[in-house]
Amino acid sequence: MRKQVLTLVLAGAAGLAATSVIAAGGPIEHRKAIMQSVGASAGLAGGMMKGEIAYSPAAGKAVIASMNAAAHSFGAFFPEGSDAGDTTAAPAIWSDAAGFEAALAKFAEATGAAMAASGKDGPADLDAFKAVAGPIMGNCKSCHEAFRVKK
Ligand code: HEC
Repeated sequence: MRKQVLTLVLAGAAGLAATSVIAAGGPIEHRKAIMQSVGASAGLAGGMMKGEIAYSPAAGKAVIASMNAAAHSFGAFFPEGSDAGDTTAAPAIWSDAAGFEAALAKFAEATGAAMAASGKDGPADLDAFKAVAGPIMGNCKSCHEAFRVKK
């Protein structure tokens, strides 16, 4: 009797866990959401660099911190088998895992350096922001060319 109750409780817990995984979305949704935030930050960065949006240290810091968080979390959402589905992730991510790791590390190095140079309040002026944001932006194209397919 006790064993049956325990089995029921366990089955219920497993069901709950499965439901929450579905509700929260799978790895493809997670990594795309991360890249969408990177894209939005890049839009803000580009707007400030072109002078279309007034620069402020807080906005500069927001760009850098969100990209740094993305650089550190993005790589966790590429489990085996997540190459199929609504994704533009290239097969090279799995066939050249070391290369992808290196691209992620390069991205994280640039965002980390920008964080370190930002201080508590963000880069003081647009020139200081450009100096650290420029190297971050160079990573978008190089990684996308190697590890993303056009659809
Ligand atoms: C280390 C590799 C890497 C770097 C660096 C990188 N990306 Fe990506 N990006 C990807 C991959 C892989 C995808 C495809 C994700 C998928 O569809 O599963 C992607 C997808 C995207 C998407 C589409 C998201 C969607 O909804 O499908 C945008 C926008 C984007 N990246 C912007 C950027 C910008 C802007 C930068 C630079 C600041 C950047 N990325 C840097 C690897 C990278």
